[in-house]
Parts: sequence; structure tokens; C-alpha cells
Amino acid sequence: MQVGHSPVMPDQVMQSLAPAPGSLQIDTTVGGGGHTERILEAASPDGRVLGLDADPAAIARVAERLGRFGDRLVLRQANFRELAEVAPAAGFGAVDGALFDLGLSSFQLVDRDRGFGFRAGGPLDMRFDTSRGVPASDLLATLDADELAALFRRYGEEPAAWRIAKAIVEARRAAPVDSAEALAELVERVVPGNPRHKRRIHPATRVFQALRIAVNEELDALEQGLAAAVDLLRPGGRLVVLSYHSLEDRIVKRFLQAERRGCTCPPEAPVCVCGKQPRLRLVTRPSLTPTPEEIEANPRARSARLRAAERLAA
Ligand SMILES: C[S@@+](CC[C@H](N)C(=O)[O-])C[C@H]1O[C@@H](n2cnc3c(N)ncnc32)[C@H](O)[C@@H]1O
Repeated sequence: MQVGHSPVMPDQVMQSLAPAPGSLQIDTTVGGGGHTERILEAASPDGRVLGLDADPAAIARVAERLGRFGDRLVLRQANFRELAEVAPAAGFGAVDGALFDLGLSSFQLVDRDRGFGFRAGGPLDMRFDTSRGVPASDLLATLDADELAALFRRYGEEPAAWRIAKAIVEARRAAPVDSAEALAELVERVVPGNPRHKRRIHPATRVFQALRIAVNEELDALEQGLAAAVDLLRPGGRLVVLSYHSLEDRIVKRFLQAERRGCTCPPEAPVCVCGKQPRLRLVTRPSLTPTPEEIEANPRARSARLRAAERLAA
């Protein structure tokens, strides 16, 4: 089977980002390069793209696949939380657009060496960048039941967090829970599906999501990446974010609202003393979702939500 990653909501992303010829764009999550390629085509003949990914395998893949664009595509293996340093160093200190397509790619999901997917299996690592942090199996081996339950609740909104955490602590007395198969099987045992209900999602989905978010510190990275992107945008520049679950989307929504409002004084303050000006205007109000046709053709798009904003002169 050939693995590929279809870019999500490609038409809506391109309409929201609106990359003009000659513009400078940042794709903070190149993945398989699907969006990057479209941006480069729309910004031809001379627009340039800085493409980042925390995963070196993604950078290597896109370098080969999109090599034909020559020096119009600059690739860096970096976490977008480092955008404030990486972008100016690469010559992208003031840009016309920034895209965040969050989460993981289909390439990562099916990679048996990474443990991202309960269907693919493999050692439970889950790091986008394996040179940093600790693998998910270390968290399962060292956190106590309270800490594991808190992690599953906080990052997975998992209702059975405590039961799953206790089962992990019991199971690891006999053998480490260090493979995606072992974890998926344990969760299925603790939270069996109702055979009469056709399950919408696999019972281990939320636990896998929670571990991935924790291992990669995804929510902190998102806050830092968004803040840096707005600083880099020129007036009229666009920020476009595709998120895939409510925790991510909540951060994006609150961030955009705060930048749209500007003033951060408490509501009871009679006059503004912070002096902060609005820096963004919302382009999508409130957000866009994929069409039923896209979800049918690409089930990975099903939970996607697109939010976009434009940088004001402030
Ligand atoms: C959904 S995929 C992007 C797919 C891409 N837009 C395409 O069309 O092929 C998300 C990518 O973001 C990367 N990623 C996730 N968090 C990141 C971060 N904080 N910094 C940089 N890359 C990140 C992942 O490694 C993954 O390759």
C-alpha cells in the first residue's frame, strides 16, 4: 500500500492564506508538503516559502519531493515554538503569511518505529523529534497512577482516565507497557466498546492523543508559535491554523480573540491602562470545517477546523 498524506481543506487554506506572487510565506508544519506545494504554486513565479517541521523525516521527504522549486523553498528542521529565532535567521523576518496544520501526518501515523498509531503498532515513542524529550513509554513507566490519570484527563479529556491509569500501573509490575499494541489492548480491555453501538472512535484514541500532546509539549508549543507568527506578519499578512481537537482549537480561538481585542484590562476597569492595540482582524468568522465530500474522501479531515486572521497595522 502506498502511503500518502492528502492536505486537509486545501482550497479553504489557499483562499484564507491568499499567497500572492512575490510574497514570503511560512509553512510551520510541512508534513508531506501538500500545502507547501500549493503555496509555492500560487506564489509563483518568485514567492518564497520557509518550511519547518520538527520531524527530520518530513524535512527530508519534502526536500526531495519539492526540490524542483529550488531556492524558492527554504527548509529547516525546527519546532515552531522556535519560530521567533528560526524565521529571521532564515531570511523570513517579516512575512505575508503563516500556516499551522497541527498534529501528525499520515506518514507518522503508519510508521511502525514511532508508535503514534494504535493500528500501526510499534515501540511507544511518539516524539516528532526523537533527539529531544523522552519517549511516551518512559511516561508510562515512571508516572504514578495519579499523574497518569491527570495526563489522560487533561490532554485527552478521557472519562475513564483513572481506571486506565490504574490498569497501566498494575500491568507494568509484570511487564513494561512499551508498545502501541500493548497500550491499545490494555485500554480496550479496561474500556470495552458496547458491541451494539457502532463506535465512532477507537477506545484508545484519547489516551494516544494525550500521550502525544504531553511528549511533544504540543499546547505550549502552539501558544509560543502563534505569538511568534503574529510578530512576524506584515500588515495585511494572514495567519491560518488547522486544528484537529478541542484543546488545540480552544487555544487558537482564545489567542485570535485576544489579538483581535487588543486591550487586556479587566472588564471592570473604567479606562484602558494596558494600551494594547488590536493586532488581528478575523478572516473566518467563526471557523470553517471540511465539506462532507472531503471527509468522505479523506477521513483524517473529519475533525479539522480552520481559523484565519489578518494582521493589522498596529
Ligand atoms: C498534519 S501534518 C502537516 C501536513 C502538511 N500540511 C501536508 O500538507 O502534508 C503536521 C506536521 O507538523 C509537524 N509538527 C507538529 N508539531 C510541530 C511543532 N511544534 N513544530 C514543528 N512541526 C510540528 C509534524 O511532525 C507533522 O509532520
